[in-house]
Amino acid sequence: LTDPTTPVAEPDVADNFAFAFDIDGVLIRGGRPIPEAIEAMKVLNGENEFGITVPYIFLTNGGGKFETERCQDLSRQLEIDVSPGQFICGHTPMREFSARYNTVLVVGGEGEKCREVAKSYGFRDVITPGDIIKANAHIAPFRRLTSSEIESSRDLLADGGKLSDIVIEAVFVFADSRDWASDLQIILDIAQSKGGRLETRSEAFDEGPPIYFSHSDVLWSAAHEHVRLGMGALRRSVETVFEHTSGGKKLKTHAFGKPQVSTFEFATRLLQQWRAEQHGLTESRPPATVYFVGDTPESDVRGTNAMNEKSENEWYSILVKTGVYQAGTEPKYKPRKLVDTVLDAVNHGIRREM
Ligand code: G3P
Ligand code: MG
Repeated sequence: LTDPTTPVAEPDVADNFAFAFDIDGVLIRGGRPIPEAIEAMKVLNGENEFGITVPYIFLTNGGGKFETERCQDLSRQLEIDVSPGQFICGHTPMREFSARYNTVLVVGGEGEKCREVAKSYGFRDVITPGDIIKANAHIAPFRRLTSSEIESSRDLLADGGKLSDIVIEAVFVFADSRDWASDLQIILDIAQSKGGRLETRSEAFDEGPPIYFSHSDVLWSAAHEHVRLGMGALRRSVETVFEHTSGGKKLKTHAFGKPQVSTFEFATRLLQQWRAEQHGLTESRPPATVYFVGDTPESDVRGTNAMNEKSENEWYSILVKTGVYQAGTEPKYKPRKLVDTVLDAVNHGIRREM
């Protein structure tokens, strides 16, 4: 029997490399874990032939919940402890904009959740499409709010106020729209307004406030056997319909998330902090290689490869076949390595290092 006072040896921590994971189509599909994902996490946490622990973070374009809630979901699904200190979702970088704008339109997600998330980010005056429809139902002729939606929506007409008193300084699409028709209508109305003032129409169609999407994935991998439309499809719809209804004028919207290099830079800072806090590694020295495992060539591989070009350390793209990418097709952006599942990706990275 082992003497219980003998300290259990901690596995060594990999100092030179780390992993970053996309979630949908790599680890989770339709709310359920991809079976190999659970094993992959065990391998990173020391159950490998070298006895090493490898630091890792999660970088998803998805959203619609508090980061803490999403980490709880992921912890349950993957049978590990996931901390907000190792997690970035599509709307996380939006928090840096809360001081810049006072009154904002927040779009997407279930019920009031995204309003709550936006307020937790420091946004002060958060208006949703539901608030606007409650004030003037004619804005969305095919949308009828439920009684609970009417109850939870803000009363923008309180104290004799008018919609035209309200100026939306920016639009933030936090999560996927639950009602494309009314959200598209309201985003367009604001894009075509005089400086964001509700119920007004610009003559030149060039005065609208900035419109930010938390990512631009046209397709994503959900429970259905075929990929589903994502926020990027709404973004394209907004831009296309704007052009069609504004005499050919183009609307330029903005997107966070992958494949933006700024998102990968944000991830680099998070990874550095996580390595220091969780693993006691030097914060100032980045790992020589970060393996990014994704399923979408247009966002995951493209972004990782672009980051690799820009960064001093290596960003190594690994594409899996469990999500958006279809085995046998030519990916639009070429990964450094194509594998079947996330478990193969983890094993490939570790073997390449050891
Ligand atoms: O809506 C989420 C989806 O577009 C992508 O999520 O985890 O694959 O980046 P993920
Ligand atoms: Mg994905």
